[in-house]
Amino acid sequence: MKALAARRHHPMALLVILLLALVATGGLYAAFQPRVAQAESYSQEDIAAGEALFLANCATCHGRNAEGQTDPDGQTVGPSLIGVGAAAVDFQVGTGRMPMQRSGAQAARKPPQMNEEQTRQLAAYVASLAPGPSVPAEEYLSGGDPVNGGEIFRINCAMCHNAAGAGGALTRGKYAPPVLGLEPKHVYEAMETGPQNMPVFNDASLTAEDKRDVIAYLDQLEDVGSPGGISLGSLGPVTEGLYAWTIILTLLTGCAVWLGAKAK
Ligand code: HEC
Ligand code: HEC
Repeated sequence: MKALAARRHHPMALLVILLLALVATGGLYAAFQPRVAQAESYSQEDIAAGEALFLANCATCHGRNAEGQTDPDGQTVGPSLIGVGAAAVDFQVGTGRMPMQRSGAQAARKPPQMNEEQTRQLAAYVASLAPGPSVPAEEYLSGGDPVNGGEIFRINCAMCHNAAGAGGALTRGKYAPPVLGLEPKHVYEAMETGPQNMPVFNDASLTAEDKRDVIAYLDQLEDVGSPGGISLGSLGPVTEGLYAWTIILTLLTGCAVWLGAKAK
């Protein structure tokens, strides 16, 4: 102790303390970093197979090194995939959006063209280029709290996807698709990667547990169906009003015609 006290004024003391503080901060940061819902690690073979699939199916739009590509007019043919992560690939390829067939306002969901193994390999290749969001672990896909999920959904998602999850139109020919009856994995990945006009809900804004709750809520919504009767497309007061008016007006017009006919 004496020896330590004596060295207190040594010129190196400050440096040592600074170093210790830095190491401690780094260690604490690493220890308390948000848990990443990582599902799997990929082998070198997965990555190599993924690269071959990528060159054959995706490079024409996304570039030979996934760096993205623009046409001579400066329009994006395919965005860069560096850092989009395995989750984005699993979502885009797993929902059939990619490989995209023709350009349009928005890549549409269609029957997947790649099987599960190929999707995994493509994800492995893109994940090997730069760190990015990973495919969610099973434990975050079921068993959530639908009540909390419902609250999160109404605050963060309903304005685009509609309170009943039926989807809705956005500007410039784009749309938010319906979100019922999907694979939980794809719901998680959509939140994690924010495709197209959808915002990214990373772990800082919605934790893995919150995302699991949203999945539970959508499951419940799907099971409940439409307790109030015909859903009328769940489009809200406008369609409901439209239906009511059309029916009432038809009846009234019918009455008027009948009365007119009777009076003759
Ligand atoms: C015909 C051109 C075309 C082909 C082929 C194509 N893509 Fe795309 N891709 C696009 C465009 C355009 C977008 C952005 C528009 C969108 O997301 O709707 C996109 C978006 C993506 C995204 C989302 C990026 C992000 O920021 O989240 C991923 C991941 C992706 N593509 C992967 C692939 C993979 C993997 C293949 C091959 C299996 C592929 N694409 C084939 C044109 C293409
Ligand atoms: C600003 C509008 C907007 C908000 C807010 C939004 N989304 Fe989306 N969402 C979109 C759009 C647009 C797409 C379609 C992307 C595409 O096709 O590439 C989409 C796609 C999805 C999909 C994929 C559906 C499919 O057919 O594969 C899911 C699932 C989803 N959103 C869930 C959510 C959830 C859960 C939230 C809230 C946490 C949310 N979204 C918030 C606009 C939004």
